[in-house]
Amino acid sequence: MASERTVAVVPAAGRGERMGGATNKAFLPLGDRPLLAHALGVLETCPLVDEIVVAVGEGEEDACRREVLEPFELRKVTGVIRGGASRQESVRLALRYVGTGAGLVVIHDGARPLLPHELLVRTIEAGRRSGAAVVGLPVKDTVKRVGADGHVAETLDRRRLWQIQTPQVFWRDLIQMAHARAAERGVIATDDAALVELLRHPVLVLEGLEENIKVTTPFDLLTARAILASREKARA
Ligand code: CTP
Ligand code: MG
Repeated sequence: MASERTVAVVPAAGRGERMGGATNKAFLPLGDRPLLAHALGVLETCPLVDEIVVAVGEGEEDACRREVLEPFELRKVTGVIRGGASRQESVRLALRYVGTGAGLVVIHDGARPLLPHELLVRTIEAGRRSGAAVVGLPVKDTVKRVGADGHVAETLDRRRLWQIQTPQVFWRDLIQMAHARAAERGVIATDDAALVELLRHPVLVLEGLEENIKVTTPFDLLTARAILASREKARA
């Protein structure tokens, strides 16, 4: 690795359409702070993370500084950049901003506010060793492929199926190469690991935790509130 520095890249430039509101869900309150401040806070307090770059929507840069970074003293954030039209594009732009100033990159969704510290550390350590490590959970339901005619085409073997989350940790040169290659070829994927897989670099999957939810719908926000309340109760 060229550098020992670890930079976290946080895509938070979505529109939160499935949340149903008019605003980016990153700024919605969860407990005492915006959703995004929780996700950034876990990275801020982790001694293995040196710096954070966050991608927000066009025109949201000031609100991010004023409502998220300043009040919650997120001092490791060295870049607030404008994201792109897709999550992949937002990550690509943030990686461009990172340049060669890191050896390791931790990509974590701004919409995952409840990442436990211990899981972050475990993923960073595995990523540093292997070049590519992600967290996921074995699927709980039976998964079927359904044809366009509305009938089952295939029942998949659940024992081999995992739902993949973030954090995803990569060697910086590997993930930049993966994004550059994808952009050249017009490949679109829903996570960063898929782009590394195309380069045939093995991606290690660590068993994550259910509480590391992605807040996508209003139901998820209720769940996040319940998890937060139970943590506070456990601490009291
Ligand atoms: N994201 C991003 N840039 C985009 C789209 C998404 O940085 N152009 C980010 C989101 O802000 C979020 C993460 O990627 O932190 C995961 O995406 P998702 O949960 O789909 O969020 P949204 O795209 O905001 O939600 P929706 O798809 O319902 O509009
Ligand atoms: Mg989206």
